Amino acid sequence: MTAALECEGLVKRYGSLLAVDGLKFSVTEGEAYGLLGPNGSGKSTTIEMVVGVLIPDSGTVRVHGHEMARHPLRAKRLVGYVPQEVALYPDLTGRENLRYFGRLFGLRGQRLRRRVAEVLDVVGLADRADERLGTYSGGMQRRVNIAAGLVHEPKVLVLDEPTVGVDPQSRNAILESVERLVAGGTTVLYTSHYMEEVERVCDRVGIIDRGRIIAEGRPEELMATLSPGGRAEVEVDGDVQAAGVAVAALPGVAVTVADHRPRLLLVTWTEGADRLPDVLQALNGVAAVVRTAAVRPSLEEVFLHLTGTSLRD
Ligand SMILES: Nc1ncnc2c1ncn2[C@@H]1O[C@H](COP(=O)(O)OP(=O)(O)O)[C@@H](O)[C@H]1O
Ligand SMILES: [Mg+2]
Repeated sequence: MTAALECEGLVKRYGSLLAVDGLKFSVTEGEAYGLLGPNGSGKSTTIEMVVGVLIPDSGTVRVHGHEMARHPLRAKRLVGYVPQEVALYPDLTGRENLRYFGRLFGLRGQRLRRRVAEVLDVVGLADRADERLGTYSGGMQRRVNIAAGLVHEPKVLVLDEPTVGVDPQSRNAILESVERLVAGGTTVLYTSHYMEEVERVCDRVGIIDRGRIIAEGRPEELMATLSPGGRAEVEVDGDVQAAGVAVAALPGVAVTVADHRPRLLLVTWTEGADRLPDVLQALNGVAAVVRTAAVRPSLEEVFLHLTGTSLRD
Protein backbone atom coordinates (compact mmCIF):
# COMPACT_ATOMS: atom_id res chain seq x y z
CA MET A 1 0.00 0.00 0.00
CA THR A 2 1.21 3.48 -0.81
CA ALA A 3 1.96 5.89 2.00
CA ALA A 4 0.21 9.18 1.32
CA LEU A 5 1.92 10.84 4.25
CA GLU A 6 5.03 9.85 6.20
CA CYS A 7 6.49 11.75 9.14
CA GLU A 8 9.69 10.69 10.82
CA GLY A 9 11.60 12.07 13.78
CA LEU A 10 9.70 15.37 13.77
CA VAL A 11 10.98 17.79 16.42
CA LYS A 12 9.95 21.38 17.15
CA ARG A 13 11.11 23.57 20.02
CA TYR A 14 9.75 26.96 21.05
CA GLY A 15 12.61 28.32 23.15
CA SER A 16 13.08 25.80 25.93
CA LEU A 17 9.69 24.16 25.31
CA LEU A 18 9.81 20.89 23.38
CA ALA A 19 6.44 21.11 21.60
CA VAL A 20 6.94 18.11 19.29
CA ASP A 21 9.30 15.43 20.48
CA GLY A 22 10.38 12.98 17.78
CA LEU A 23 7.02 12.25 16.23
CA LYS A 24 6.63 9.42 13.72
CA PHE A 25 3.49 8.27 11.94
CA SER A 26 2.32 7.45 8.46
CA VAL A 27 -1.03 7.52 6.71
CA THR A 28 -1.91 5.10 3.92
CA GLU A 29 -3.58 6.37 0.76
CA GLY A 30 -7.34 6.58 1.32
CA GLU A 31 -7.06 6.24 5.09
CA ALA A 32 -8.44 8.64 7.71
CA TYR A 33 -5.90 9.08 10.51
CA GLY A 34 -6.71 10.96 13.71
CA LEU A 35 -4.32 12.72 16.04
CA LEU A 36 -6.13 12.77 19.37
CA GLY A 37 -4.76 14.74 22.29
CA PRO A 38 -5.57 17.47 24.80
CA ASN A 39 -4.92 21.17 24.29
CA GLY A 40 -1.21 21.92 24.18
CA SER A 41 -0.17 18.36 23.26
CA GLY A 42 1.41 19.48 19.96
CA LYS A 43 -1.32 18.76 17.39
CA SER A 44 -1.25 22.13 15.61
CA THR A 45 2.54 22.31 15.66
CA THR A 46 2.67 18.86 14.05
CA ILE A 47 0.04 19.76 11.44
CA GLU A 48 1.85 22.99 10.51
CA MET A 49 5.03 21.00 9.85
CA VAL A 50 3.11 18.38 7.86
CA VAL A 51 1.61 21.01 5.53
CA GLY A 52 4.88 22.92 5.22
CA VAL A 53 4.00 26.23 6.91
CA LEU A 54 6.38 25.54 9.83
CA ILE A 55 9.91 24.22 9.36
CA PRO A 56 10.82 21.37 11.74
CA ASP A 57 14.00 21.60 13.82
CA SER A 58 14.64 18.08 12.59
CA GLY A 59 12.83 15.21 10.95
CA THR A 60 11.16 14.72 7.59
CA VAL A 61 7.69 14.91 6.05
CA ARG A 62 6.92 13.10 2.79
CA VAL A 63 3.73 13.49 0.79
CA HIS A 64 3.30 10.70 -1.77
CA GLY A 65 7.07 10.34 -1.69
CA HIS A 66 7.85 14.05 -2.17
CA GLU A 67 9.93 15.41 0.69
CA MET A 68 8.44 18.68 2.00
CA ALA A 69 11.85 20.27 2.71
CA ARG A 70 13.31 19.42 -0.73
CA HIS A 71 10.32 19.72 -3.04
CA PRO A 72 7.87 21.99 -1.22
CA LEU A 73 5.86 22.94 -4.32
CA ARG A 74 5.29 19.34 -5.39
CA ALA A 75 4.44 18.26 -1.86
CA LYS A 76 2.16 21.22 -1.05
CA ARG A 77 0.12 20.87 -4.23
CA LEU A 78 -1.03 17.45 -2.99
CA VAL A 79 -2.13 18.76 0.40
CA GLY A 80 -5.23 20.71 1.44
CA TYR A 81 -4.85 22.50 4.76
CA VAL A 82 -7.78 23.54 6.93
CA PRO A 83 -6.24 25.59 9.77
CA GLN A 84 -7.62 25.75 13.29
CA GLU A 85 -8.40 29.47 12.90
CA VAL A 86 -10.72 30.57 10.07
CA ALA A 87 -8.62 32.47 7.49
CA LEU A 88 -11.13 34.06 5.09
CA TYR A 89 -12.29 37.50 3.89
CA PRO A 90 -15.48 38.66 5.66
CA ASP A 91 -16.36 41.24 2.96
CA LEU A 92 -16.31 38.71 0.12
CA THR A 93 -19.08 36.17 -0.47
CA GLY A 94 -18.47 32.49 0.22
CA ARG A 95 -18.05 31.86 -3.51
CA GLU A 96 -15.65 34.80 -3.97
CA ASN A 97 -13.51 33.54 -1.08
CA LEU A 98 -13.27 30.12 -2.72
CA ARG A 99 -12.47 31.62 -6.14
CA TYR A 100 -9.64 33.53 -4.47
CA PHE A 101 -8.16 30.35 -2.95
CA GLY A 102 -8.61 28.49 -6.24
CA ARG A 103 -6.64 31.18 -8.10
CA LEU A 104 -3.81 30.92 -5.56
CA PHE A 105 -3.50 27.30 -6.67
CA GLY A 106 -3.50 28.24 -10.35
CA LEU A 107 -7.10 27.38 -11.22
CA ARG A 108 -8.75 29.58 -13.87
CA GLY A 109 -11.87 29.85 -16.02
CA GLN A 110 -14.17 26.87 -16.41
CA ARG A 111 -12.14 24.60 -14.12
CA LEU A 112 -12.17 27.19 -11.31
CA ARG A 113 -15.93 27.73 -11.64
CA ARG A 114 -16.60 23.98 -11.61
CA ARG A 115 -14.36 23.27 -8.60
CA VAL A 116 -15.85 26.12 -6.55
CA ALA A 117 -19.36 24.78 -7.25
CA GLU A 118 -18.26 21.25 -6.34
CA VAL A 119 -16.69 22.17 -3.00
CA LEU A 120 -19.70 24.32 -2.07
CA ASP A 121 -21.77 21.16 -2.55
CA VAL A 122 -19.38 19.07 -0.46
CA VAL A 123 -19.85 21.36 2.55
CA GLY A 124 -23.56 21.91 1.86
CA LEU A 125 -23.45 25.68 1.29
CA ALA A 126 -24.41 26.00 -2.38
CA ASP A 127 -27.61 27.91 -1.52
CA ARG A 128 -25.83 30.54 0.61
CA ALA A 129 -22.74 30.93 -1.60
CA ASP A 130 -23.50 34.46 -2.81
CA GLU A 131 -23.98 36.04 0.60
CA ARG A 132 -21.17 37.91 2.35
CA LEU A 133 -19.06 35.65 4.54
CA GLY A 134 -19.40 38.11 7.44
CA THR A 135 -23.12 37.32 7.63
CA TYR A 136 -22.51 33.54 8.06
CA SER A 137 -22.66 31.78 11.42
CA GLY A 138 -19.37 30.59 12.90
CA GLY A 139 -20.18 27.04 11.84
CA MET A 140 -20.85 28.08 8.24
CA GLN A 141 -17.58 30.01 8.11
CA ARG A 142 -15.85 26.84 9.28
CA ARG A 143 -17.44 24.95 6.41
CA VAL A 144 -16.19 27.52 3.89
CA ASN A 145 -12.76 27.18 5.52
CA ILE A 146 -12.90 23.44 4.76
CA ALA A 147 -14.06 24.09 1.19
CA ALA A 148 -11.06 26.44 0.75
CA GLY A 149 -8.74 23.56 1.63
CA LEU A 150 -10.42 21.35 -0.99
CA VAL A 151 -10.70 23.63 -3.99
CA HIS A 152 -7.46 22.51 -5.70
CA GLU A 153 -8.47 18.84 -5.38
CA PRO A 154 -5.78 17.73 -2.92
CA LYS A 155 -5.06 14.03 -2.47
CA VAL A 156 -4.51 14.58 1.26
CA LEU A 157 -6.79 16.77 3.38
CA VAL A 158 -5.43 17.97 6.72
CA LEU A 159 -7.97 19.36 9.20
CA ASP A 160 -6.92 20.93 12.50
CA GLU A 161 -9.77 20.75 15.04
CA PRO A 162 -12.42 21.67 12.46
CA THR A 163 -15.36 21.55 14.86
CA VAL A 164 -14.13 23.58 17.84
CA GLY A 165 -16.65 26.20 18.86
CA VAL A 166 -19.35 25.36 16.27
CA ASP A 167 -23.03 24.65 16.87
CA PRO A 168 -24.09 20.96 16.90
CA GLN A 169 -25.78 21.20 13.49
CA SER A 170 -22.68 22.55 11.75
CA ARG A 171 -20.56 20.07 13.65
CA ASN A 172 -22.58 17.22 12.22
CA ALA A 173 -22.45 18.76 8.73
CA ILE A 174 -18.66 19.00 9.02
CA LEU A 175 -18.28 15.40 10.16
CA GLU A 176 -20.58 14.21 7.35
CA SER A 177 -18.54 16.13 4.75
CA VAL A 178 -15.34 14.52 6.03
CA GLU A 179 -16.94 11.07 5.99
CA ARG A 180 -18.08 11.61 2.39
CA LEU A 181 -14.59 12.71 1.34
CA VAL A 182 -13.05 9.62 2.94
CA ALA A 183 -15.65 7.41 1.22
CA GLY A 184 -14.66 9.08 -2.07
CA GLY A 185 -10.98 8.16 -1.60
CA THR A 186 -9.44 11.32 -0.10
CA THR A 187 -6.73 10.67 2.48
CA VAL A 188 -7.47 12.55 5.71
CA LEU A 189 -5.37 13.67 8.65
CA TYR A 190 -7.71 14.90 11.38
CA THR A 191 -6.92 16.36 14.78
CA SER A 192 -9.26 16.72 17.68
CA HIS A 193 -9.52 16.61 21.43
CA TYR A 194 -13.00 15.11 21.06
CA MET A 195 -12.70 11.35 21.15
CA GLU A 196 -16.25 10.83 19.79
CA GLU A 197 -15.27 12.59 16.55
CA VAL A 198 -12.08 10.65 16.06
CA GLU A 199 -13.92 7.38 16.77
CA ARG A 200 -16.56 8.30 14.21
CA VAL A 201 -14.36 9.60 11.39
CA CYS A 202 -10.99 7.86 11.66
CA ASP A 203 -9.80 4.41 10.60
CA ARG A 204 -6.71 4.74 12.79
CA VAL A 205 -5.79 6.96 15.72
CA GLY A 206 -2.53 8.19 17.22
CA ILE A 207 -2.88 9.39 20.79
CA ILE A 208 -0.59 12.37 21.28
CA ASP A 209 0.62 13.67 24.63
CA ARG A 210 3.42 16.19 25.18
CA GLY A 211 4.55 16.01 21.59
CA ARG A 212 4.79 12.22 21.38
CA ILE A 213 2.52 9.50 20.07
CA ILE A 214 1.95 7.28 23.08
CA ALA A 215 -0.41 4.75 21.47
CA GLU A 216 -1.62 4.01 17.97
CA GLY A 217 -4.18 1.70 16.38
CA ARG A 218 -7.73 1.30 15.20
CA PRO A 219 -10.12 2.81 17.77
CA GLU A 220 -11.56 -0.57 18.76
CA GLU A 221 -8.06 -2.11 19.03
CA LEU A 222 -6.88 0.65 21.34
CA MET A 223 -9.91 0.22 23.52
CA ALA A 224 -9.63 -3.58 23.63
CA THR A 225 -5.92 -3.71 24.49
CA LEU A 226 -5.99 -0.92 27.02
CA SER A 227 -9.23 -1.52 28.83
CA PRO A 228 -9.93 -5.26 28.83
CA GLY A 229 -13.15 -6.51 30.38
CA GLY A 230 -16.45 -4.77 30.00
CA ARG A 231 -19.16 -2.64 31.49
CA ALA A 232 -22.90 -2.58 31.64
CA GLU A 233 -25.68 -0.45 33.02
CA VAL A 234 -28.42 -2.28 34.89
CA GLU A 235 -31.56 -0.42 35.87
CA VAL A 236 -33.43 -2.05 38.73
CA ASP A 237 -36.75 -1.62 40.48
CA GLY A 238 -36.91 -2.43 44.20
CA ASP A 239 -34.19 -2.47 46.84
CA VAL A 240 -31.22 -0.87 45.08
CA GLN A 241 -28.91 -1.27 48.08
CA ALA A 242 -29.56 -5.00 48.28
CA ALA A 243 -29.14 -5.29 44.50
CA GLY A 244 -25.74 -3.54 44.71
CA VAL A 245 -24.60 -5.85 47.49
CA ALA A 246 -25.68 -8.96 45.56
CA VAL A 247 -23.80 -7.90 42.40
CA ALA A 248 -20.69 -6.78 44.30
CA ALA A 249 -20.49 -10.26 45.86
CA LEU A 250 -19.62 -11.71 42.42
CA PRO A 251 -15.85 -12.28 42.06
CA GLY A 252 -14.12 -9.87 39.66
CA VAL A 253 -17.16 -7.60 39.41
CA ALA A 254 -17.44 -4.05 40.79
CA VAL A 255 -20.58 -2.00 41.08
CA THR A 256 -21.47 1.64 41.77
CA VAL A 257 -24.79 3.47 41.84
CA ALA A 258 -25.07 6.32 39.31
CA ASP A 259 -24.90 9.79 40.92
CA HIS A 260 -28.04 11.23 39.42
CA ARG A 261 -29.86 8.01 38.60
CA PRO A 262 -30.39 6.20 41.92
CA ARG A 263 -31.93 3.11 40.28
CA LEU A 264 -29.07 2.60 37.86
CA LEU A 265 -26.23 0.23 38.74
CA LEU A 266 -22.94 0.68 36.84
CA VAL A 267 -21.33 -2.72 36.69
CA THR A 268 -17.73 -3.32 35.56
CA TRP A 269 -15.56 -6.40 35.26
CA THR A 270 -11.88 -6.25 34.55
CA GLU A 271 -11.26 -9.34 32.46
CA GLY A 272 -12.73 -12.28 30.65
CA ALA A 273 -16.03 -12.90 28.98
CA ASP A 274 -19.34 -11.09 29.33
CA ARG A 275 -20.42 -11.20 33.00
CA LEU A 276 -23.89 -9.80 32.47
CA PRO A 277 -25.55 -13.27 32.72
CA ASP A 278 -23.91 -13.74 36.17
CA VAL A 279 -25.12 -10.29 37.21
CA LEU A 280 -28.71 -11.06 36.19
CA GLN A 281 -28.57 -14.37 38.05
CA ALA A 282 -27.28 -12.62 41.20
CA LEU A 283 -30.20 -10.19 41.02
CA ASN A 284 -32.76 -12.95 40.70
CA GLY A 285 -35.12 -12.66 43.69
CA VAL A 286 -33.36 -9.50 44.96
CA ALA A 287 -34.65 -6.78 42.63
CA ALA A 288 -36.50 -6.61 39.33
CA VAL A 289 -34.33 -5.75 36.31
CA VAL A 290 -35.96 -3.04 34.18
CA ARG A 291 -33.28 -2.60 31.53
CA THR A 292 -29.69 -3.53 30.74
CA ALA A 293 -27.24 -1.97 28.31
CA ALA A 294 -23.64 -2.78 27.45
CA VAL A 295 -21.34 0.26 27.75
CA ARG A 296 -18.40 0.52 25.37
CA PRO A 297 -15.14 1.76 26.83
CA SER A 298 -14.13 5.08 25.28
CA LEU A 299 -10.91 6.56 23.96
CA GLU A 300 -11.31 9.06 26.80
CA GLU A 301 -10.72 6.19 29.25
CA VAL A 302 -7.83 4.88 27.17
CA PHE A 303 -6.23 8.30 27.38
CA LEU A 304 -6.79 8.49 31.12
CA HIS A 305 -5.30 5.03 31.54
CA LEU A 306 -2.18 5.97 29.52
CA THR A 307 -1.46 9.42 30.91
CA GLY A 308 -3.31 9.76 34.19
CA THR A 309 -4.85 12.99 32.87
CA SER A 310 -8.11 13.76 31.15
CA LEU A 311 -8.48 14.83 27.51
CA ARG A 312 -10.64 17.77 28.50
CA ASP A 313 -9.50 19.57 31.61
N1 LIG B 1 4.30 30.09 18.38
C1 LIG B 1 4.50 29.52 19.60
N2 LIG B 1 5.40 30.02 20.46
C2 LIG B 1 5.62 29.45 21.65
N3 LIG B 1 4.99 28.35 22.10
C3 LIG B 1 4.08 27.79 21.30
C4 LIG B 1 3.78 28.35 20.00
N4 LIG B 1 2.83 27.57 19.43
C5 LIG B 1 2.54 26.59 20.30
N5 LIG B 1 3.28 26.72 21.43
C6 LIG B 1 3.27 25.81 22.60
O1 LIG B 1 3.59 24.50 22.12
C7 LIG B 1 2.80 23.51 22.76
C8 LIG B 1 2.01 22.76 21.71
O2 LIG B 1 1.05 23.64 21.15
P1 LIG B 1 0.07 23.23 19.95
O3 LIG B 1 0.87 22.55 18.90
O4 LIG B 1 -0.68 24.45 19.57
O5 LIG B 1 -0.86 22.15 20.68
P2 LIG B 1 -2.37 21.71 20.36
O6 LIG B 1 -2.67 22.08 18.96
O7 LIG B 1 -2.38 20.23 20.62
O8 LIG B 1 -3.24 22.44 21.34
C9 LIG B 1 1.94 24.24 23.79
O9 LIG B 1 2.59 24.20 25.01
C10 LIG B 1 1.90 25.66 23.24
O10 LIG B 1 1.72 26.59 24.27
MG1 LIG C 1 -4.21 23.21 18.13
